[in-house]
Amino acid sequence: MAQSLPSSISKPTTTFTTTPSPTCTLLFVLLLCILGLYTLHQHPHSTTPSPNTQDALHFRDIFLSSASNYTISSYLRALTLHPHLAGTEPALQTAQYVQTHFKDLGLNTHMVHYKALLSYPVHASLYAHFSDGTVKDLPLTEPGQAGSDVVRPYHAYSPSGSAYAEAVFVNFGREEDYRALGALGVNVSGCVVVVRRCELSRGAVVEKAAEKGAAAVLMYTEGGKVKEEGVERGTVMGALGDPLSPGWAGSEGGERLGLENGDVLKRFPKIPSMPISIQNAYTLLGSLDGARMPYEWKDSLRSKVGRVGPCPTMVNFTYQGEKKIVTIHNVFAVIRGLEEPDRYVLLGNHRDAWTYGAVDPNSGTAALLDIARRYALLMRLGWNPRRTIILCSWDAEEFGMIGSTEWVEQNLLNLGSKAIAYLNVDCAVQGPGLFARTTPQLDDLLVEVTKKVGDPDSAGMTVYEKWTTTNGGINIQRLSGVDSDFAPFLQHAGVPSVDLYYGRDFPVYHTAFDSYSWMSSYGDPLFQRHVAVAGLWGLLALHLSDDPIVPFNYLSYAHQLQEYTKVLRNMLEGSVSLHPLTASILELASAAKEANEEAKKLREQETLGDLLVLKKRTLSDRLMLAERGFLDADGLQRRQWFKHLVYGPSSDYESKLVFFPGIADAISQSTGMSARERQAAIQHEVWRVARAIQTAASALKGELT
Ligand SMILES: *[C@@H]1O[C@H](CO)[C@@H](O)[C@H](O)[C@H]1NC(C)=O
Ligand SMILES: *[C@@H]1O[C@H](CO)[C@@H](O)[C@H](O)[C@H]1NC(C)=O
Ligand SMILES: *[C@@H]1O[C@H](CO)[C@@H](O)[C@H](O)[C@H]1NC(C)=O
Repeated sequence: MAQSLPSSISKPTTTFTTTPSPTCTLLFVLLLCILGLYTLHQHPHSTTPSPNTQDALHFRDIFLSSASNYTISSYLRALTLHPHLAGTEPALQTAQYVQTHFKDLGLNTHMVHYKALLSYPVHASLYAHFSDGTVKDLPLTEPGQAGSDVVRPYHAYSPSGSAYAEAVFVNFGREEDYRALGALGVNVSGCVVVVRRCELSRGAVVEKAAEKGAAAVLMYTEGGKVKEEGVERGTVMGALGDPLSPGWAGSEGGERLGLENGDVLKRFPKIPSMPISIQNAYTLLGSLDGARMPYEWKDSLRSKVGRVGPCPTMVNFTYQGEKKIVTIHNVFAVIRGLEEPDRYVLLGNHRDAWTYGAVDPNSGTAALLDIARRYALLMRLGWNPRRTIILCSWDAEEFGMIGSTEWVEQNLLNLGSKAIAYLNVDCAVQGPGLFARTTPQLDDLLVEVTKKVGDPDSAGMTVYEKWTTTNGGINIQRLSGVDSDFAPFLQHAGVPSVDLYYGRDFPVYHTAFDSYSWMSSYGDPLFQRHVAVAGLWGLLALHLSDDPIVPFNYLSYAHQLQEYTKVLRNMLEGSVSLHPLTASILELASAAKEANEEAKKLREQETLGDLLVLKKRTLSDRLMLAERGFLDADGLQRRQWFKHLVYGPSSDYESKLVFFPGIADAISQSTGMSARERQAAIQHEVWRVARAIQTAASALKGELT
């Protein structure tokens, strides 16, 4: 997981429409021919006898019953023996471990390499010069790190530099925090700012500090998120993918921009920054004088910290890093679909880690490897997916989704025309409780599969039963953040996506303590949460690959868009017409209803025939393509790589809108404009979203005007 969501400020919840999720109740021709040769004992399911349905159910049952917490834990142990930061030798070894696992299972596997610009620390130091003349060396490493090959805490892509300046506390480093400081008469220009991490991305915090004239940024993480001794590493680059190949794949021998290129330079922060421990932060903050801290800033700080500075403490901070072009490795296993090999269901997880990566990301990798094991078992029993399943193990996610982004850029047209869905799992297990984010047409399917998987923490309950009875019931979130590998798939390529995990905010995030021993002591001692994630993830993929009609329900999408429009209406208070939006949503809802009825009819037809198969495929294609309708060729203004007009990050990190990023930008950038200019700018973005929804509706209808 690269960084926390800038969009976690307000969270849309989902209410469910009552349309039943598709279940396959029909024969399909080719699979029948192949599997007909195959004798499987009859399975006592209540639905009307239908050999193929029974086969599909039978294989899903085998998939679920062949789960093993033991194998998952052994994969995790092997993956986390050494730290495996992207671009290092141990990282290549984990790639080989994953590929060997796929090979040993008899799966088709290959690696795809890219050259990408990564960033590593060389040297860093931090001294506090106190008013009494004493100087304290503040250690920038974590305890117990000496002699280990864990990379020292740093911010990837921070420029090298040094500062000898007064320290000042800026709370979370948001605009409103600087405003509060301004009111106290504090100017941070030339100072070293000390900031505590919040939902804002690291890059956004550093950018804001630079804008305010700060000389450098020291960042600490408090609360449950990071253990007292731990220090949170992370990237401070704002954009996704390899900075030297923006928008295209950085393949060996391909075009690469120079480091001095303007487009490259603008991706990097302007001032050096460094993560520090809570102790170091409190040492500095406790020594500050100057203005009293605003009351609201205090709650999570120790009581002795009461003043924001600057003065009298001087900070002497030096950071030296190097940017290096290195080879990164994505590993794939491809299970070719029997009837529709040219339709893809992708399961992805990154493999690179800041340290040992037991939670982030290899709890997900271990689950992926267990899914591979169980799919291979199904294949030995005669199963072949209807559509092609691709297991993807990404590299260099921690540096800005680089492995997945380069691959999506390289395969954009094929993904656009053939990818059914992308199912992401990053930090699979952080603790208890299911957390899920999807694009809305996948809500029903997600809910269905949670009814089939046992809850890891409550014997005798399904994940669904547990989910509906805790924290106010089912809460499916959306995918506007750029905090894991779904971002290029959804926000650049328009592929319907899912992101799953258990628990959130684990205290060893990006620290040297994210190890197998933490996982087996605290995160998931029995590895049953891993089993649950693997079950949900693998079952989602089985439905998406095997159901003759792709199990999407766009009524959920229309409903979600309606909710968004309500939020927007309240925010804009009538200054902008939202009629184009509501009209287009009605169109989408009507197309969705028709598609659902058509699917129902096709499922009920018991006859066999090429025509029926073709009809299901045609409908599935419309269901697949509808999501692409939300893409706009021009993308978001000034951030054209982001093509999706419903889901994507707003460029204003403090925006209250976590959807419609173009509208969000128009709203936040309109301060200082005349009322008319503001209205026109926002109205234009509303029209763009409305046209995108119309395009999606027309793709779903599948007819020309
Ligand atoms: C802060 O100080 C700098 C340098 O002295 C000055 O350029 C800037 O205008 C000041 N900012 C404010 C908000 O007063
Ligand atoms: C700051 O620290 C560096 C060592 O990293 C040292 O070379 C330099 O002299 C120090 N500057 C001051 C003013 O103490
Ligand atoms: C697997 O789960 C069982 C039952 O919960 C438990 O007894 C066993 O210790 C677990 N194994 C591992 C490796 O966690």
